[in-house]
Parts: sequence; structure tokens; C-alpha cells
Amino acid sequence: MKKDCLSLKDLGKKDILSAIDLASEIKSKINNKEDYKPLKDVILGMIFEKSSTRTRLSFEAGMKRLGGDAIFLSSRDIQLGRGESIEDSARVISGFVDIIMIRTFEHTRILDFAKHSSVPVINALTSLLHPCQVLADLMTIKEHYGSLENLKIAFFGDGNNMANSWLYAASILGLNLSIASPVDLSVDGIVVQDALKEATKTGANIVLTDNPNEAAKNADVIYTDVWASMGEEEQTAKKHSMLRNYQVNKELADKAKSDYIFMHCLPAHRGEEVTADVIDGTHSIVWEEAKNRTFVQMAVIMKLLGRN
Ligand code: CP
Ligand code: NVA
Repeated sequence: MKKDCLSLKDLGKKDILSAIDLASEIKSKINNKEDYKPLKDVILGMIFEKSSTRTRLSFEAGMKRLGGDAIFLSSRDIQLGRGESIEDSARVISGFVDIIMIRTFEHTRILDFAKHSSVPVINALTSLLHPCQVLADLMTIKEHYGSLENLKIAFFGDGNNMANSWLYAASILGLNLSIASPVDLSVDGIVVQDALKEATKTGANIVLTDNPNEAAKNADVIYTDVWASMGEEEQTAKKHSMLRNYQVNKELADKAKSDYIFMHCLPAHRGEEVTADVIDGTHSIVWEEAKNRTFVQMAVIMKLLGRN
């Protein structure tokens, strides 16, 4: 039966950790310019219903580097954007390619797509979850600290797709995560329920608070994301006023451990969710974080296709 990656829950702890290890191997092979083409006969279909820089480039470049190919499908150009159903689109597109990634709006759209696709489907961001990004984040943290254990990870701002994805990552892997967001912009209720249940099994320490100082205290990783996500443009002014106190600035970062790292999935808005001195400062590892998207996504593709 085909396996999808719509949420980190589809992978589970063992596959998440082995995907990160495989991603490091892929990174070193690519960086050393080794002749390594495990995806030689694989074509990836890439459906975008929202904009992207990193996701498109990291999947497309990764496929080409590992010997495969990728086809970019913008909803502006394909019939899906003109009302062809998600079910019919899935049936048809999966007949041409070996694996599909999709970036879309409601999470139910990707669930429907995956149900009717004959090939594995990867979530390249929905309004609920962004599993590929959090996998790259985990890889980057592991590269930096050598391990994911005994670290306090703190997320600040909107309880959005990145915050939800962090909840799944922490609960599945048994990590220590604090999320600071205003009560009215808190993380998704169902994800919280799921994550807290999982945390009782894995020993994850999950704290949801509206107090940014509490979350920042002694943190090893400071993480933030845009205040208004794609598709929420009309809520920008409201969200900005609600999130002002959750900005990651020098004063907040000073409450973290002295050797903390700053992470952001990007794109960033300097002066909004993060100040320039933090994102451009010496604690920031955002550029390496972005680069790691390729390696971890290629590892996921290899795992879903049974090529590792
Ligand atoms: N972080 C991320 O997914 O970036 P893009 O929106 O540019 O793909
Ligand atoms: N929360 C952001 C993440 C972008 C990568 C969004 O959905 O727009």
C-alpha cells in the first residue's frame, strides 16, 4: 500500500529520526559531489495553490541532484485552478508521475487528494501543517547541538501551521516545547488534544502559554514565523496588533540561554515577528535551516518510495 506524508504522524518517531539521518548522508554526498542518483527514474509532480520560494526550489533542485525530475504545476495554469475537482485531479496527475507534493489551503484538500492519488503524496504546506519545514528544522537543530534531547524549544507568535507542526514533532519525539501565543490565536484544538495524548506516552514536555517571557526563559531554540500566513491577508492588521508583544527581539532573546539559536521557516518580515538584529545576528541559523529543506525532503521521498 502507498504511504503518504501529510503529517508527521504519518511517519512516526522511527521514520522521522531515520529520515533525518538519511538527510545528513544525502547532504554530505551532494556537498562532496558524489555520483549518487537514487531517484534516477523518479518524477515528482509539484502542485502549488499558494506561492513558494524555498519549497519549490528545494524539491526541484533536490530531485535533479539525485537523478530524478520534477514538474511544477501552478494552480494558475492547471485545470484544478479552474474548478476540476481535487479527486479527478488526483486520479489524473498520479497517472503521470511517481510521487506528488502539494501546497494548498484547507488540510481536508490534501486528505482528499491523497485518498484519490495512486502514488504517495507529501504535504508541502497546508493551512494546518507544514511537516517538511519542521523536519528540516529538526535536522538543523540536530546538526547544531548533536542531539534533539535536553533542549528547550520555544515558538513565538501565531498558533499557525508551523506551531501545529512543532506540536506534533515535540509530542512524537518526546521533546521540550513551549509555545507562546495570545489565547485568541492559540494552536489548533485538535492538534493540541492529539499532541498532549501522544506526550503522555513519549514523555514530551509541552507548555502552551500566553506569556512570551516564560517561553523564552532558558530556551535553547527560539523560533518564530510570520504573523499573517498565506491566505490570511485580510487579517493582517488584526493579527499585527494582537501579536505585537510576541515579537522576537533582543530583549526577549536575552532571556534565552546565552548560546541560543534563532530559527525561522522564512519568509521573514523584519520589524514584525523578528527584529533585524536577531535574524541577522550571530545566533541565527536561518540560512542553513532553509538549505536543509532539500536533503530532508529527498530523504522523505526515498523512504516513501522504499529506496533507502
Ligand atoms: N518555508 C517555506 O516553506 O518557504 P516557501 O513559502 O518559500 O516555500
Ligand atoms: N505560516 C506561514 C509559513 C510559510 C512557510 C504560511 O502559511 O504562510
